[in-house]
Amino acid sequence: MTDSPAPAGVFISFEGGDGAGKSTQVRRLADWFAARGREVVVTFEPGDTALGAQLRTLVQHGEDLDPRTEALLFAADRAHHVTTVIRPALARGAVVITDRYLDSSVAYQGSGRALGAEEVERLSLWATQGLLPALTVLLDLDPVIGAQRITRSLDRIERAGDEFHRAVRDAFLARAGVDETERWLVLDATRTPDELHGAITARVEQILAVASAAGSGADDDAPRDAVVVEHTEVRP
Ligand code: TYD
Repeated sequence: MTDSPAPAGVFISFEGGDGAGKSTQVRRLADWFAARGREVVVTFEPGDTALGAQLRTLVQHGEDLDPRTEALLFAADRAHHVTTVIRPALARGAVVITDRYLDSSVAYQGSGRALGAEEVERLSLWATQGLLPALTVLLDLDPVIGAQRITRSLDRIERAGDEFHRAVRDAFLARAGVDETERWLVLDATRTPDELHGAITARVEQILAVASAAGSGADDDAPRDAVVVEHTEVRP
């Protein structure tokens, strides 16, 4: 009898404005996967590597940065994060759940800082060599409510003002609305944590079922492809 094959890696990101409750839902989804026997890597951007922690300090608490410098620092953090944490974990069949990923750059730097969504997306896809999640959960929240939920002192980006945060929210919603890969799940972040968790796991179960049906005819010994979206049209 052969051992059952290693499961395919699964890549999931959470997005939304500050104070939307992403970290709670990330933790609950990680526990859900762990209870099903999966290796789960919970991670975040910016800053979940030694280099990233330094970049995080610079963007959140350093001197004023011009928008392009800010976008490049987030892209550098992401490139390093993908190469050293995310891709290796997916390759060994883990579930990777990240609190923020490339869509944050498109919304915050592309729209909030007005650099242009397309340019920032191109930069981000170049940094990640086209790696996109299979599922991106957007916890959508009015930024005024988000700001009320933050009790600690605000960082450089959180202090950017109402107009900035409204532009960020609109950018996330617009991006999810024109999604061609169906990777987005948009949820109203004012729903209860239990309701949000239920909606997220329902969608995850669908994705896992589709992936498992796609892999069921395959050679059991062959490595499974990770459940991700590889964006192939990457123009530096
Ligand atoms: P986050 O760690 O989610 O904030 P906190 O832990 O303070 O709640 O993100 C840090 C800030 O960086 C947040 O305001 C969003 C911003 N950000 C960008 O502007 N661009 C990016 O690409 C990313 C990943 C984050």
